[in-house]
Amino acid sequence: MTPRIAVIGSNNMDLVTYVTRVPEAGETIEAPSFEIGFGGKGANQAVAAGRLGASVLMITKVGDDSFGAEQIRNFEANGIDTRHVGRVANMSSGVAPIMVEPNGENRIIIVKGANAELSPADVDAAEAELATCRLILLQLETSLDVVYHAIEFGHRHGIEVLLNPAPAAADLDPARIRDATFLVPNETELALLTGMAVTDEASCEAAARKLIAAGTRCVIVTMGAKGALLVEGEKAVPIRAFPVEPVDTTGAGDAFIGSFAHFYVSTGNVEASLKLAARYAAQSTLKRGTQKSYPTAEEFAAF
Ligand code: RIB
Ligand code: NA
Repeated sequence: MTPRIAVIGSNNMDLVTYVTRVPEAGETIEAPSFEIGFGGKGANQAVAAGRLGASVLMITKVGDDSFGAEQIRNFEANGIDTRHVGRVANMSSGVAPIMVEPNGENRIIIVKGANAELSPADVDAAEAELATCRLILLQLETSLDVVYHAIEFGHRHGIEVLLNPAPAAADLDPARIRDATFLVPNETELALLTGMAVTDEASCEAAARKLIAAGTRCVIVTMGAKGALLVEGEKAVPIRAFPVEPVDTTGAGDAFIGSFAHFYVSTGNVEASLKLAARYAAQSTLKRGTQKSYPTAEEFAAF
């Protein structure tokens, strides 16, 4: 049996408007197209792993609106265990209104909704299932209490934990995340976490080393089209990005992390898994949308 992955995180309905430009205050403009799709960093990472064939346990909360019911159906359609997906009464599901400009640049607003109701008690309620997992994935679209609690939980049970500290949160306490096995920030998040300037590969490595000195085993800095940098022990290994001409990069970082989780629990090889994840993430940018652009195992093999 393949080792299980748990995701303790968010789910959002992505409401994506493709605009020709962003409206001014008080202005109404017309946009050429709109697409709705499943998103949220936690759900995205779970679905990327699930599409590749991983066994995934999802711990999240949805509202009692139609989006919530659709989220649960979407998890099930991707083979994800939903026994710990809770529904919150009188609460909206998480949504993310997104504007994408013609150059592919996006602006995202997150409304946490039911995601904000996920609590440390929900992590404890899943203890029996969580204890059978090899790796726990975390992001910052739930309350920080959940993140800290899950890291402690993993530490106590000898389960590896990967924290993707996104979106950047100024109040994240570095002392409470050092027991995470993997930290996967982008350059902005790394700078915020360490208080160091991150401008090139050397400064990136120096900042990553600060996190390693604090106790994290492995730091993976994602740098978009420039690839990623793996810093572990004495080594610092650049992971080249797969060269593509992207159509929509929304959710590419989540595709990278979710697919990395799958490859890593299947093989135990961090570096080889990162190379495959870079290819998976690149493939996801060739299609519009978030989860709808994530390849299945067959599509990935054909790429
Ligand atoms: O990382 C991309 C995700 O960020 C989107 O799916 C959106 O929901 C926001 O959470
Ligand atoms: Na995409």
